[in-house]
Amino acid sequence: MMAGNVGALGHIPVLLEEVLEGLKIREGGIYLDGTLGEGGHADQILSRYEETHVVGLDRDAEALELARRKLATYGKRVELVHGSFADIEDLMEASDFELVDGMLLDLGVSSMQLDDPDRGFSFMADGPLDMRMDREGELTAEDVINGYSVDDLRMIFYRYGEEKQANRIAAAIVEERAKGRITTTSRLSEIVKGVLRRGKPGSINPATRTFQALRIEVNRELEALEKVLLPGVMRLTEGGRIAVISFHSLEDRIVKRKFKKLEAPCTCPPDFPICVCDEKPMGRIVTKKPITPGDDEVSVNPRSRSAKLRIFERGSIWAQ
Ligand SMILES: C[S@@+](CC[C@H](N)C(=O)[O-])C[C@H]1O[C@@H](n2cnc3c(N)ncnc32)[C@H](O)[C@@H]1O
Repeated sequence: MMAGNVGALGHIPVLLEEVLEGLKIREGGIYLDGTLGEGGHADQILSRYEETHVVGLDRDAEALELARRKLATYGKRVELVHGSFADIEDLMEASDFELVDGMLLDLGVSSMQLDDPDRGFSFMADGPLDMRMDREGELTAEDVINGYSVDDLRMIFYRYGEEKQANRIAAAIVEERAKGRITTTSRLSEIVKGVLRRGKPGSINPATRTFQALRIEVNRELEALEKVLLPGVMRLTEGGRIAVISFHSLEDRIVKRKFKKLEAPCTCPPDFPICVCDEKPMGRIVTKKPITPGDDEVSVNPRSRSAKLRIFERGSIWAQ
């Protein structure tokens, strides 16, 4: 589901206390915030632990600029990097740090991105069909909507939006674009609403799933998540932890599956008396079940309602 909107409040860090506690932040430690956004989590790490360092990464240059201003008081304790966490290996090579004591991935879009109609993420306000987190990226939502085949559109709405009416929505888009290029969020939203009758009062906006699917496709969000977890864990010091907050089941499933594989990578048949594949565990899953926000947090920050936090701890770095 799309993240909710907290408007003038700006972006409120989700599951803040749970993240800080889960990462076992310690004085003098170095932490990588792989989704710096508006710097909410990073600011709390830096202000509560006065000898920590944070490497803040974001693929959105505008978010980095906001965070740079917000975190300026911490001086050299902060290093900002522009790029995708999918490229963590190369980005860490270029940074001053080889290993970090903890890592945070707070997935999805920030309130700043959602609330700016010009970014085209939201069906709540009219704007260009853009949806790129990194404005240097080549593919926009407009390209997808006007250029993908009906089958590809159906596939992304079904797979990334879990939209049962993917067929009908894809067909309606193809019919409409034959009359003229679809360039705005409001036009797309109208097309989707024309296919799906409004649900019961209080249910989500009918365009929610289509917009989520498009955003995931434009930013290759699931591929980035698939790519980061193994190298991310390998870049942790012994006992270091990675915390991932996801906002929909597709992401959560990837994190859950990858963490399991990192904890128990052995591929030997169960009836083998000893392991011959030589795949060694990378550490242990800290959260057997995901941590979710309480009612108090959801009432203050509706965006947090679908958040799930999973944490993995790196074992001995000599075992692999
Ligand atoms: C939910 S916000 C993070 C908010 C932040 N934790 C805070 O408290 O202010 C997610 C941020 O991650 C960034 N992001 C999403 N996917 C990314 C990726 N693959 N690499 C780097 N940044 C990414 C987005 O641009 C956005 O700024």
